[in-house]
Amino acid sequence: MRIFTILGITLLLFSCSKDDEGSRNDSNGNKYNLEYTGLPKPNIAEDNKLTKNGVELGRRLFYEKTLSEDNSMSCASCHVQKDAFSDIRRFSEGVKGLPGKRQAMAVFNMAWNDNKFFWDGRANLLRDQSLLPIQDHLEMNETLDNVILKLKANADYVERFQDVFEDGEINSFNISLALEQFMNSIVSNNSKYDKFLQNKANLSASEERGRVLYFRAYDPLKPNQAFGNCIDCHGGANFENDSYMNNGLDTDEEMTDLGRGAVTERAVDRGTFKIPSLRNIELTPPYMHDGRFETLEEVIDHYNSGVKLSTTLNPTMLSLANEGSKMNEQDKKDLIAFLKTLTDYDLVTNPKYSDPFE
Ligand code: HEC
Ligand code: HEC
Repeated sequence: MRIFTILGITLLLFSCSKDDEGSRNDSNGNKYNLEYTGLPKPNIAEDNKLTKNGVELGRRLFYEKTLSEDNSMSCASCHVQKDAFSDIRRFSEGVKGLPGKRQAMAVFNMAWNDNKFFWDGRANLLRDQSLLPIQDHLEMNETLDNVILKLKANADYVERFQDVFEDGEINSFNISLALEQFMNSIVSNNSKYDKFLQNKANLSASEERGRVLYFRAYDPLKPNQAFGNCIDCHGGANFENDSYMNNGLDTDEEMTDLGRGAVTERAVDRGTFKIPSLRNIELTPPYMHDGRFETLEEVIDHYNSGVKLSTTLNPTMLSLANEGSKMNEQDKKDLIAFLKTLTDYDLVTNPKYSDPFE
């Protein structure tokens, strides 16, 4: 009886660890080891577990210029590794040289993103998201049929798709799965602040004061005390909260981009946008969905004294619209010093994520 129990437990253990190994072709050492020390367990779709071949194919597609109409532009043209996979232009230009309408978002730690993609959350899954820029007229402006033809004409891709997918097909679904795998493999977890949390680095006095401000909420007993309360929305391991909110950039009359509201058509979502991660924020100017702020100083000034009232302004910000957050020049400097501890230089130099064609 006892032996059976032990055997049962052993079998269970085995089946668990096997389950974690990934789906396709994982018999031949093809398991991709996602390193994410300090972060919670990632949210990777059961039907698209990371494999070495899958991530590598996705990486190639991410840097593949034939995904665009005139073969001049890849995903990486607007998601640049040295800029934490974002674009430091206010509005990226697509193949036609025309600017888009929003600021490019930084693509890292997507495996922890549980609530849709894009500033307005119009793509449910990363795989849905990944096919949209290819077809977007202001971005890569190419048809999926053409992309498939171009990839099929390349013997290297024919072989790689066969290695990664059971059906071996070059089709849009498999392209989207490979891109999803690569984007899920991009992990940022080695900033100074991560090291601080692991007792491997110390914060300077200014960074430490900034950290306190970042976490401190408004205290009605000390109404004149400066606070950031950034944690309220930019919290958790990735300094975001997976929701869509209005942080007071515009009054109702000024709102030209309705953000999530244009997708859901609900009044409560008017002018709400995805709360972006503040990891690597130093590297990803300009800021906000329309890149209206060029510097972190301008961002802090917004929160400190520029929050505007509107019907959907997040309620925690009402007091900011009225009273501001009381930061003086030194407080602002400290808060920015803290934000800069979230920069992960490994992310921007890691050869795992770099251009495979260079
Ligand atoms: C011309 C520039 C451009 C190109 C090319 C481009 N992107 Fe983007 N990307 C953007 C912009 C701008 C946004 C924000 C758009 C929005 O929210 O409406 C964005 C958003 C994203 C997001 C959302 C991240 C989040 O946190 O929700 C992902 C993921 C992404 N892009 C991946 C890709 C992939 C994969 C490709 C290639 C197939 C690609 N991008 C090609 C400019 C570009
Ligand atoms: C009530 C929620 C909320 C609070 C509190 C909040 N933010 Fe934000 N933050 C947002 C939202 C929503 C956006 C995106 C807004 C947009 O682009 O329309 C954003 C965007 C940003 C951006 C730009 C990110 C990018 O990639 O462009 C920075 C930087 C930022 N916040 C820093 C802070 C700091 C620092 C604090 C504390 C002083 C703070 N936030 C407090 C909701 C909040």
